[in-house]
Amino acid sequence: MVTDNVDLDIEAIATDGERAIASAASTDALGQVETELLGKRSTLTRAHRTLGSLGPEERKEAGRRINEVRERLVGQVAARRTELAEAERAQALQADRLDLTEVIPDTVLAPPSRGHLHLVTQARAELEDVFVGMGFTVAEGPEAESDWYNFEALNIPPSHPSRDMYDTMYLEVGEPETVLLRTHTSPVQIHLMVAAVRDGTLPIHAVMPGKCFRLDTPDATHLPVFNQIEGLVVDRDITFGDLAGTIQIFTEAYFGPGMQSRLRPAYFPFTEPSAEFEITCTICLGEGCRTCSHTGWIELGGCGMVDPAVFIAVGIDPSQWSGFAFGFGIDRLAQMRHEVPDMRSFVENDIRFLSQF
Ligand code: PHE
Repeated sequence: MVTDNVDLDIEAIATDGERAIASAASTDALGQVETELLGKRSTLTRAHRTLGSLGPEERKEAGRRINEVRERLVGQVAARRTELAEAERAQALQADRLDLTEVIPDTVLAPPSRGHLHLVTQARAELEDVFVGMGFTVAEGPEAESDWYNFEALNIPPSHPSRDMYDTMYLEVGEPETVLLRTHTSPVQIHLMVAAVRDGTLPIHAVMPGKCFRLDTPDATHLPVFNQIEGLVVDRDITFGDLAGTIQIFTEAYFGPGMQSRLRPAYFPFTEPSAEFEITCTICLGEGCRTCSHTGWIELGGCGMVDPAVFIAVGIDPSQWSGFAFGFGIDRLAQMRHEVPDMRSFVENDIRFLSQF
């Protein structure tokens, strides 16, 4: 009977179709299954066409069931498609995944060699750390300065004999003003004091590292471009004892316990009294050797109490405030600490030298 045939066909179509949808292994395969089950040439569509040969009641019932099965299959195809698409996406991601923990053995690929900071940069960072630990802030100033900042405000008027200490590189001479490459970091003291007076932010406890320039012929202990670190304290009732104590605490913090410092009278126009400070020779630890000319001490830098003339130049009242300053070469320090025989190695950029530190 036609009716039975349609019945049988529809049930068979439904179960076969469900099985085919469930076992489609990819979205592509599912596309084919979909065409076979629901397309123009599918059994279901053909069954629909045979409805015309049925009586009105049977036709209605069979049509309802065909549509029911079609809807069910359409829903299952959609659900299966979502499922397969998700699985395929997960698979694609997995295939694309980078294993960041993978270790490639040296025998396969030489490990890339890592660079590091220059020895002098490392020394500067360490010095900053030590001084920050002692309560100082870190400040910087310009490398090109006017004559006033580098000399005049530091109590070095034009043609003062102490200008001979600094073989200055001038950028511009005369009007409107003389501009030069700073010969020391002391002009940063002036910048800090001028700013503190303007902003009403005294006291000052700061260190100031940076590049300095002098017309020196490079040799084992001189470079025309070198680095200094400057210290400045301006506060109430600061004494020479505070200066000596600060230098001693710094010496032990940087060079290690047991290292001593001492001050010897010297002259700087911007400090009064002035001193040179020396530390226990880092090579012989005070025994006496060639490096320290058998004295057991090596000179590190200059220091002293801020000269009242400097305070007056920047507008600080020397009867209310006092202070000390110190300055020394960072390159020289690194050279001593690492026993580098020739300072020129710092700027030759020979990787065989640089990679040792
Ligand atoms: N600016 C001096 C120099 O370069 C060093 C110094 C700094 C001396 C601070 C005293 C106080 O020679």
